[in-house]
Amino acid sequence: MSSTPFRMDLRAGCLMHGDQAIPLRPKTWAVLQYLAERPGSLATKDELLSALWPGVTVGEDTLNKSIGELRAVLGDQVKTPRYIETVHRRGFRFVGKIGRDLAFDAEEPLAEPNGGGAPARLLVGRTTALGQLANLLARARAGERQLVFVSGPAGIGKSALVEAFLASPEVRASPTTVWVASGLCIQQHGHSPEPYMPVLDALDRLARRPEAGEVARLLGHVAPMWLAQIPWLRDDEVAAPEGPQTLPLPGTARMLREFAAFVESLTAADTLVLVLEDLHWSDPSTVDLLSLLGQRRDPARLLVIGTYRPAEVAVHEHVLATVLETLRLRRQCVEMSLHELAVDDVRAYLDQRFPGAELTDRLAPVIHEHTDGHPLFMVALVDHLLSRGSILDTAPGWALSTDPAHLDLGVPDDIRLMIETQIAVLSPLQRKLLEVASVTHTGFTTPIVAKVLETRADDAEALIQTLMRPQQFLREADPADWPGSSVTRHYAFTHELYRQVVYDGIAAKRRARLHRRIGVILETVYAERVNEIAPMLAIHFERGDDPARAVGYLVLAAARARQRFANREAIAFLEPALVLVARLPRGRERRRRELAIRLALAQPLHELLGFSSERVHENAERAYALGVELGSPAQLFPIMYSLWFLHVMRADPTATVMASRLDELARRFGTTEARLEVDSVLVRTAVYEGRFDDARCIAERRLVPEGHAAELAPAYGADPIIAAQCHYAYALWFLGHPDRAQLAMRDALARARVLGSPFTLAAALCHSSLLEAFRRDPRAIRPLLDEATVLTAAHGFALWSAVAAVLGGWAEVQLGRTDQGISAMERGIAAYRDTGARMVSTYFLAFLAEARWSAGAFAEGLAVATEGLQLADTTLDRGYRPELWRLKGELLLAPKRAHSGGRATSSRHDPSVRDAERCLLQALDSARTSQAKSLELRAAMSLARAWRTMRRAADGRALLREVYEGFGDVASPDLSEARSLLGELAIRGTRTRDVRRGARPSV
Ligand SMILES: Nc1ncnc2c1ncn2[C@@H]1O[C@H](COP(=O)(O)OP(=O)(O)O)[C@@H](O)[C@H]1O
Ligand SMILES: [Mg+2]
Repeated sequence: MSSTPFRMDLRAGCLMHGDQAIPLRPKTWAVLQYLAERPGSLATKDELLSALWPGVTVGEDTLNKSIGELRAVLGDQVKTPRYIETVHRRGFRFVGKIGRDLAFDAEEPLAEPNGGGAPARLLVGRTTALGQLANLLARARAGERQLVFVSGPAGIGKSALVEAFLASPEVRASPTTVWVASGLCIQQHGHSPEPYMPVLDALDRLARRPEAGEVARLLGHVAPMWLAQIPWLRDDEVAAPEGPQTLPLPGTARMLREFAAFVESLTAADTLVLVLEDLHWSDPSTVDLLSLLGQRRDPARLLVIGTYRPAEVAVHEHVLATVLETLRLRRQCVEMSLHELAVDDVRAYLDQRFPGAELTDRLAPVIHEHTDGHPLFMVALVDHLLSRGSILDTAPGWALSTDPAHLDLGVPDDIRLMIETQIAVLSPLQRKLLEVASVTHTGFTTPIVAKVLETRADDAEALIQTLMRPQQFLREADPADWPGSSVTRHYAFTHELYRQVVYDGIAAKRRARLHRRIGVILETVYAERVNEIAPMLAIHFERGDDPARAVGYLVLAAARARQRFANREAIAFLEPALVLVARLPRGRERRRRELAIRLALAQPLHELLGFSSERVHENAERAYALGVELGSPAQLFPIMYSLWFLHVMRADPTATVMASRLDELARRFGTTEARLEVDSVLVRTAVYEGRFDDARCIAERRLVPEGHAAELAPAYGADPIIAAQCHYAYALWFLGHPDRAQLAMRDALARARVLGSPFTLAAALCHSSLLEAFRRDPRAIRPLLDEATVLTAAHGFALWSAVAAVLGGWAEVQLGRTDQGISAMERGIAAYRDTGARMVSTYFLAFLAEARWSAGAFAEGLAVATEGLQLADTTLDRGYRPELWRLKGELLLAPKRAHSGGRATSSRHDPSVRDAERCLLQALDSARTSQAKSLELRAAMSLARAWRTMRRAADGRALLREVYEGFGDVASPDLSEARSLLGELAIRGTRTRDVRRGARPSV
């Protein structure tokens, strides 16, 4: 046996030995290909027969004959096989080492985009385009990532170009390994398709290749969330990623980052060509992914080829348009737009299709004129002429039956109409089959059309064959896995335009019937795996006028989308479900189903739109109304929790009502978890309302002793127990225990670190910072904010990033960088409002008012304090009301102090001084009402200072002393300030009056 290696030329569909092509019968070639694709694994005789002779009964000897032929050409021995081993009585196994005995050379790791064995499609007039793609590949191979978009209308030849490129020596005979992965976007009437569908499709096909074990391993290591989406690939060693419950927000970001990491690891040494076809039908998640791949700077030997139809993108305002625009502006992509073929190209096409014929010179201009050089039209017209006998096979040559000048093409000059004409001449049975095929939509298999047509599989198969040649309506597509049989042939329309024309031609009633029937068949075939095809089943039942079933599958499809952290797609399944549910008969069942949809919508809507969105509220309110009637406590509880949360974030006073309803619900049915969550709600609500001692009592009685949070799955926002602890710490501070407050907050932060939820940790860091701002410690705040900032940037937590900005500004002001600090605070407050949140914004306004005061901008400061008070009076955000009154008083006095250099005395009869005094008394009063001792201390200091200028220093001293002494043995900047003020007042104080009377507003 010579050492010249064998090579399978998959494009040409023949076996090569050196330069020499070895002729094989088509079936023999198919057997070789089948075996070679599964090296090392047993292919049973039944499997081979049903895969390669589907629908026909042939004996084993037919198979044995092919095996014999292969052994002969490969020089293989039965006893000492180098290529094909016989497994006694069972079948055969390919034992040749790929790349050595039967070398696939560099083309070996190539994913065949359209199934092997098919004769290569002709390509003319695209030399420049092919050259351009080859150039891009060369640059990608050198480590410079490339993104190219091939665009043009349907049938212009985008797929044909890409296919020819993938088959070119640049890709197949590359000196380094080139992985090719291609995926297709599929039009899904109205609904958003499944998230990442073409990408998963591409990965799936890549990983199915026998030599692609390393791809699966790599996925497991760097992209476990992706591996989890391809169930057949996942082995038990790879842990499933955490579900969306434990990581509510960063999921999407994680999916995207994992994919980037996968691509970058794979392309560290090898090159990856990722083909995503028909992006005008892509889901938004795939577009995000493309944008990320294009914008990343890390080196990658990556060439992404996307194809799309510009008209579809424009008409449907597809998200792709924006991403393309950005990539274009940043020069991060290359665009290739394809145009019609020239007359010379048409001639070249005819020359290649009819070698040696003399008809081309005369026929080319006629065809070109009629089709404008539109490739799909051109091919269809030539097929038509062949089938009509206008072009005759006069073996060994070709001839025209009529002179082209007199040739009546007999077809309309529009490609759609032309297709209709082609369909019109088919037999009724053929048309029926095409109709069924067009309804299956994504491609189909013989068993399914046989079932719908109620014929035998062999008859259906034979019928399919008649539509593959010479008419070319159908082609063989990638093998699909069809439950119940190991391998089934999979067919598709040669072009989507054909499918559409057929589909559009079916009468509405019949179309609905077909959809429903196919849906039912798929349901039984897929049995327990129906969830894998839920989006497709939803379409069949929706179009099949079975809204009840359609709703069920839409909800299932949404759940799958959520597993991929794809909120937009989940919503895009659920909103049509809401519309469909309205078509069900009125009654309890309909409301029950609506409730299920609303419950499923709650979280994706919230995560995507935030708590300020009307849609989020409307959905939660409706879910609540339905839940009260129909829901179990377990269902009602999360809705009520969400409503409370939504109202609280907007500082809407109705949150108090929701909190007490939750309390009642937990009392009636509550589990321990529900009880803990409600206690957390009660603590937080009380703090917001300024009922600090209530908050403390609940926390100390129930939450602090419990303290563990791990089993609670927070539906919204941060972990409820940790959030409650942070609020407990606030309550302690307000109540006059700054040191205990700090301890409690540290404890909460430590727990957040253990819990590992980034959102909760960001929350705990921001709460800790806010406490430090209350405690007036700008130095303690810095490290907390630095950590929070990194976290919020990584995960895109808009709310916490805004909070961190405000507090960072506060710290700047305290450290003397007033202007800088003020503008940071203003930016932070604006960003905070942009998120829709209102709660605690009065605190931020107080910080800003104080900063303006220190900057000497009294009027502006006064305006901010007044705005804050207005909010505190009308919303739930009442905790900082005393401080806002105090600041207002101070800001009223400030201009006078500034004038007199702080020394002069004020008249008690000056109306503006009296106004200011009233504000300060109001501050004291409201601090006392809410038992906010820390704020009472500040109000007392402000009053004492004001009274000093009003010749009432002794009153001030008495007031301050009483408040000060209530604190006991603790230290804080406020207390030291109070101590020195008391000292000053003692020196200057002269008269004494009844403190209590003096502290009350005297009007
Ligand atoms: N340059 C070309 N030369 C010859 N045939 C072509 C060419 N471009 C496209 N075709 C044929 O036209 C038909 C439609 O092309 P296709 O690539 O599927 O279009 P698109 O992907 O742009 O919708 C196919 O049958 C294809 O083989
Ligand atoms: Mg195409």
